[in-house]
Amino acid sequence: MSASTKPSIQLTPTITVQGKQICFKDTKQTLLECLESNNVKVDYHCRDGFCGACRVTLAAGEISYPKGEPLAFVGENEILPCCCVPVTDINIKID
Ligand code: FES
Repeated sequence: MSASTKPSIQLTPTITVQGKQICFKDTKQTLLECLESNNVKVDYHCRDGFCGACRVTLAAGEISYPKGEPLAFVGENEILPCCCVPVTDINIKID
């Protein structure tokens, strides 16, 4: 018998940004695509983790990079929405 003991990833994490609360429902989307579809403007260029143009601050919560760690430099508490997804409720700040 095999028991499923996956880590407790929330199915629909909530993104708090600019006073909005957005449900991350479509797991095929990146965080950037989810923000765009909810009319939250984020600067971007490569959309693939190389340039760092989309960098935002993660104030709370956890994200993951499904395709592996991006190449662009990110500082402490910074994330790249173009290639990450939230795994818990998150709070982000866009400069
Ligand atoms: S848009 Fe280039 S790293 Fe995100």
